[in-house]
Amino acid sequence: MKTRWPRALAIAALAFVLPLLTACGEYPQTTFSPVSDFGEEVNQLFWWVFWWTMGILVVVQVLLIYILFRYRGRPGAPKPKPVYGHTGLEIVWTLIPALIIVFIAVPTIRSVFATQAPAPPNALTVEVIGRQFWWEFRYPELNGLVTANQLHVPVDRPIELRMRSTDVIHSFWIPRLGGKRDVAPAPRRIDPQDLRTTRIVFTPSETGEFLGECAEFCGQSHAFMRMLAVVMPQQDFAAWAQSMTTSPEPAPGSLEAQGRDIFMSSTCIACHAINGTNAVGQLGPNLTGFGNRWAVGAGALPNTRENVVAWIKNPAAIKPGARMPGTQTEGGGIPPTGLTDEQVEAVAAYLLSLR
Ligand code: CUA
Repeated sequence: MKTRWPRALAIAALAFVLPLLTACGEYPQTTFSPVSDFGEEVNQLFWWVFWWTMGILVVVQVLLIYILFRYRGRPGAPKPKPVYGHTGLEIVWTLIPALIIVFIAVPTIRSVFATQAPAPPNALTVEVIGRQFWWEFRYPELNGLVTANQLHVPVDRPIELRMRSTDVIHSFWIPRLGGKRDVAPAPRRIDPQDLRTTRIVFTPSETGEFLGECAEFCGQSHAFMRMLAVVMPQQDFAAWAQSMTTSPEPAPGSLEAQGRDIFMSSTCIACHAINGTNAVGQLGPNLTGFGNRWAVGAGALPNTRENVVAWIKNPAAIKPGARMPGTQTEGGGIPPTGLTDEQVEAVAAYLLSLR
């Protein structure tokens, strides 16, 4: 019996250490590498609770294993003497868990309040509107600037997201920035007094691009409801906001110019807006600066020419339930666009030229 001990211990140690090792790698969507005060708050709380529970685990397991071996049945051994009504023991095993609960509860409640605190006065407000299956971001302080699926924010400035949904419950989650928080249906407009308007306030502490996604099952393309946060230096953010007020003019006679003319004279403009042009549709994503987006269809595909072409031809084939018609397929109750392959190529070239 004795020789099996080291192997059993080694397996137990491995089982404990392996999950820890796998949690240390670089993952784009990890809560363990926060880049905002909100994320930091949650991460610290996580480790605090984690180590308390690990302490409990170790103490309980060591005692359990000790007792299993110390008092195991042996031939001819007397029965262990039971302990009844030991007041000292009972006080100790009531007091210690109660204290541990206090140690966990106090920082947890503190974090709950810290992550629900009102935004400081210099915060930049961004309205987040969840839709099946994409995200709209509006900047009321920047002349109503609207963008989709790619959330641009300045570094080191508090950001207040005010969130609602136009259809079902979504959940906003960019793990490295903190969150997640439900986005509840409140159809008409963002009203800070409306309890259905949920909020996240955070101050990004690092520039970079951070992936996020909808974290509440919201329909058949829930998995394609991704987003990218782009945290920019403050000057770059101002330049970006300025660049979004208008759109580049394609060179006369170019493929892009043809694409623009097709776009502006087809049903595209019923749903899409491109700032600085005649396209002012509100139903679909605003396409200003589309060439700078990381993905097509809210993270469904990388933003390449082939993928944009495939998307325009048949969005629902890439993203089931997408409310955009294809060239031959209806979508969201809207009839097919009827664009030819050449026209689609031109429109894709135009969209990708919007930078
Ligand atoms: Cu929106 Cu899941």
